[in-house]
Amino acid sequence: MTTAAQADAKVYPPSAEISARAHVDAKKYGEMYTASINDPVAFWGEQGKRVDWIKPYTQVKDVSYDLGSVGINWYADGTLNVSANCLDRHLNTRGDQTAIIWEPDDPNEPAQHITYAELHRRTCRMANILVSMGVRKGDRVVIYLPMIPEAAYAMLACARIGAIHSIVFAGFSPDALAARVNGCDAKVLITADEAPRGGRKTPLKSNADAALLHCKDTVKCLVVKRTNGQTTWIDGRDYDYNEMALEADDYCAPAEMDAEDPLFILYTSGSTGQPKGVVHTTGGYLVYAAMTHEITFDYHEGDVYWCTADVGWVTGHSYIVYGPLANGATTLMFEGVPTYPDASRFWQVCEKHKVNQFYTAPTALRALMGQGNEWVEKCDLSDLRTLGTVGEPINPEAWNWYNDVVGGGRCPIVDTWWQTETGGHLMTPLPGAHAMKPGSAMKPFFGIQPVVLDPQSGVEIDGNGVEGVLCIKDSWPGQMRTVWGDHERFEKTYFSDYKGYYFTGDGCRRDEDGDYWITGRVDDVINVSGHRMGTAEVESALVAHAAVAEAAVVGYPHDIKGQGIYCYVTLMNDREPSDELVKELRTWVRTEIGPIASPDVIQWAPGLPKTRSGKIMRRILRKIAENDFGSLGDTSTLADPSVVDNLIENRASK
Ligand code: WTA
Repeated sequence: MTTAAQADAKVYPPSAEISARAHVDAKKYGEMYTASINDPVAFWGEQGKRVDWIKPYTQVKDVSYDLGSVGINWYADGTLNVSANCLDRHLNTRGDQTAIIWEPDDPNEPAQHITYAELHRRTCRMANILVSMGVRKGDRVVIYLPMIPEAAYAMLACARIGAIHSIVFAGFSPDALAARVNGCDAKVLITADEAPRGGRKTPLKSNADAALLHCKDTVKCLVVKRTNGQTTWIDGRDYDYNEMALEADDYCAPAEMDAEDPLFILYTSGSTGQPKGVVHTTGGYLVYAAMTHEITFDYHEGDVYWCTADVGWVTGHSYIVYGPLANGATTLMFEGVPTYPDASRFWQVCEKHKVNQFYTAPTALRALMGQGNEWVEKCDLSDLRTLGTVGEPINPEAWNWYNDVVGGGRCPIVDTWWQTETGGHLMTPLPGAHAMKPGSAMKPFFGIQPVVLDPQSGVEIDGNGVEGVLCIKDSWPGQMRTVWGDHERFEKTYFSDYKGYYFTGDGCRRDEDGDYWITGRVDDVINVSGHRMGTAEVESALVAHAAVAEAAVVGYPHDIKGQGIYCYVTLMNDREPSDELVKELRTWVRTEIGPIASPDVIQWAPGLPKTRSGKIMRRILRKIAENDFGSLGDTSTLADPSVVDNLIENRASK
């Protein structure tokens, strides 16, 4: 896999035809960008009108990045309801238009077309069910569902009554689920009997049962029927969604929320400790999600838009549910995987539903690229207009394949760089405004001021052809507001290393033309198949096993996943390495965190390279994992330099 930096950067300017139809062309981008930086209050004051307010705002922005008093407020004196913006305001003009196309895992099962009117009714019923279970404004609801329409109903129902949702990806284990239920002290957990994916079924309800053993007795469980699979049932704790929905009222009045009331919590991995609950609020988030959805994808009225992410990740929040529905779009929700029943599934779904905008992750493209072009070529993809990628850097081979084979050279590719914390896209080329370079996120979105800092001094590096850590000056409406229950951790993680900036955790290069290239994380966060993971999480899972004395985990380049998980494990004195133990540890980590954290390589390490003060030198472990022994750097500060030779000798040959 070549990295973007190694490839000579070919430039693809936007075609005149695309620029002419786009919401934003080069000239307009220049004007709007300048306006957004020169007078953010006027700019965002105007953009705020994209959504309907119950009480209009008079204040636009009130932000401080000062350590000790970090506070981020947008539209603070306005009130609104997100579900009313995604549903009610469309009823007069597009009640009969499809809001959600649902494509099930099994292609033989019929797809569903859910109109805005139907989505409104379903959401209201779900909201009334939650109210009847005792959920009130400000309460937390954890959602652990497959990619089924009920996931969207549940999100919108929470938003409707002012409850704060926290979605847990259905691939997470019972332990991870329990930690998230307890982390936000949830009142209700919404789950389903089973989650079909790629022809297999994940037993969500029994995972939920296992998780709830570690939660307060008062947590109630609302269960959606998906497969009719057998589940155990605890009367008084478990509630039958399908039965209750038959009785529930079709209307529930939307709650009037302050712009800065929390909309959702989403746990994400950081460089230290356990995942943190990223908090997004109501007004600014919705404005930013709606605006980026429209402009980045150049979405037009009547388009069919498909984002293949899961609602368990931020991409699903902003770009399957909130952004598209706020814009009155038809958004496709896919339950399955790209390779089931075969490698043409994505493209068959595009053909079947005449998809216009398609948004996916590089890891999926790399996996499909390896299966050959015939899977794409047998499908009619003539409706595709904009292609997008997200989650990790895209290598030029995958970019070229996406552009040539999937897009037929006609479709601009928006390489969107952003994070759970940012709520929406921060950098991306815009279809009608910018040239594209394979692997580059190109240009900042409106209001975004990226800066490249010297990692040591923290000083801004001006000019082009420079590299450093990526920070953002000033705020934007979609920015996270705090870490749930731990504002201090919020300040420390994002605002303490480089004073006066939001620190992204990513490295970046600004090339000779002033275009941006994300070079990857500069902290101990790795990106496995587009899933973000803290190496510390995998380490703490490993050391929780009785055989493990110590563990150090690093990422290493992986052809399909982007990065793989490489674990160095020191065993307890009385334990011997064996293939069985490797298998056992893999299963152990899958149980502790979930299948997405499954170690790719486990190398036995009699010792780990540590400084005299006991700090593990991860730089060295990364190089060994990369098979790059020539540039280990200075090892003389190690307490015992000989451990390095041992690790090199025994580097797992996988
Ligand atoms: C990485 C996903 C390169 C980056 C929306 C970031 C990317 C982390 C890109 C956030 C991209 C995301 N090019 N790298 N287009 N998009 N990343 O929170 O390292 O799951 O910090 O949000 O993914 O991952 P998260």
